[in-house]
Amino acid sequence: MAAKFFLLALLALSFSRARASDPSQLQDFCVADRTSQVFVNGFACKDPKTAVVEDFHFSGLHMAGNASNKQGSAVTAVNVAHIAGLNTLGISLARVDYAQYGQNPPHIHPVHPRF
Ligand SMILES: *[C@@H]1O[C@H](CO)[C@@H](O)[C@H](O)[C@H]1NC(C)=O
Repeated sequence: MAAKFFLLALLALSFSRARASDPSQLQDFCVADRTSQVFVNGFACKDPKTAVVEDFHFSGLHMAGNASNKQGSAVTAVNVAHIAGLNTLGISLARVDYAQYGQNPPHIHPVHPRF
């Protein structure tokens, strides 16, 4: 009896398959409506029909930041606060300029720029 059960368990294991993947996004984009008071995994989406090119564009990373300060560094951050179309995508980037002997002191990255 135990041997049959063991054989069945072995068979079940050998025919089982595992499938895993990230869940699909609910939408292609969710342009942040920064005026909304609703908080849903980031900013609420604005009506997609009102999305404009500027919602997906940022210009300015080609310009050096002014690192003439106590730390000797300047951070130019680009996140959902600057590109509304990054909302809910978990993407951001930054340009850091350093003066000679400048440093980027220990810091944290808040989960959401709203906080
Ligand atoms: C950089 O910042 C310093 C200190 O605030 C200021 O004196 C200087 O004019 C700034 N330089 C530029 C190019 O903005």
